[in-house]
Amino acid sequence: MKTIITYGTFDLLHIGHINLLKRAKELGDFLIVALSTDNFNEIKGKKAYYNFEERKAILESIRYVDLIIEENHWEQKKSDITYYNADVFVMGSDWKGKFDDLSDFCQVVYLPRTEGVSTTKIKLDLSNSIIKNAI
Ligand code: CTP
Repeated sequence: MKTIITYGTFDLLHIGHINLLKRAKELGDFLIVALSTDNFNEIKGKKAYYNFEERKAILESIRYVDLIIEENHWEQKKSDITYYNADVFVMGSDWKGKFDDLSDFCQVVYLPRTEGVSTTKIKLDLSNSIIKNAI
């Protein structure tokens, strides 16, 4: 069995996330998502709209996702890969080159990002449309 692992916040789940998860799952048999906790998001300077339990519940209902674990800090990737016996580490291409050192432990794959969508853009578009409609 080939195990894949990926990391992220996955807030306001969108088509870019779904494409990433689908293509990650297609690389093997079992997909683990290490989901950033609310505390870790604070460390990253991010504030998710949905809290960890909500983001986890949403991701759990996606057919490509087999297991969700917590992402609590930057340094856990090597130990997760070893503990879960992951064969492939996957991230979107915005992280290209950032995790190449993990290739000592498993295959490292950067998948092309879906153009034109991100959680940040959704938040911005919605707040702009609220402002526009209020004028
Ligand atoms: N991702 C992707 N295509 C997009 C957006 C995200 O492939 N259009 C991937 C990222 O590269 C990452 C995973 O989805 O591997 C989770 O990304 P995340 O940071 O949670 O999503 P973003 O939409 O990029 O969030 P933000 O705008 O807050 O950075």
